[in-house]
Amino acid sequence: MAIHSILFVCLGNICRSPLAEGIARKLVKEAGLSLYIDSAGTSGWHIDEPPCEHSIMVGKRHGIDISHLKGRKVSVYGDLDFDLIIAMDKQNYHDLLQLGFPKEKLALMGDFGLKGKEIPDPYYFKDLDGFEKVYSMLESAIYELISVVVKKY
Ligand code: 4NP
Repeated sequence: MAIHSILFVCLGNICRSPLAEGIARKLVKEAGLSLYIDSAGTSGWHIDEPPCEHSIMVGKRHGIDISHLKGRKVSVYGDLDFDLIIAMDKQNYHDLLQLGFPKEKLALMGDFGLKGKEIPDPYYFKDLDGFEKVYSMLESAIYELISVVVKKY
């Protein structure tokens, strides 16, 4: 099945997955592809909030504006049509299964060139270094993800 849409999922949808969404949109555009990209959280703790300040800052440093994005909660009713749903860590993956998403649509971000490593939850990081690390993990994994998607379909 061809991949036309990808959803990135973390816990709050304010730190990791909005950054993943911004990076993916940029790389997809640069690759000349048309893929629908979105992000969501397994919790509803930050609905309608903008991404966290540090993710906005790190994105900006790399030429990506995510300040307009708004937090939302993933839903098996609204999000089942995504072709691929990428979890940032194993807890997110487990929660998506519990919510009823089929295993065939799920993957871990770390499975794309990061040897299965989880994208660490940066919510309690004190400085930007942790967010820079998250950014570089996401960038390399999403680059790999897009090349896999392109090669496969
Ligand atoms: P995210 O980070 O899952 O990357 O958006 C978090 C954001 C908020 C919380 C935890 C993680 N929180 O506990 O509110």
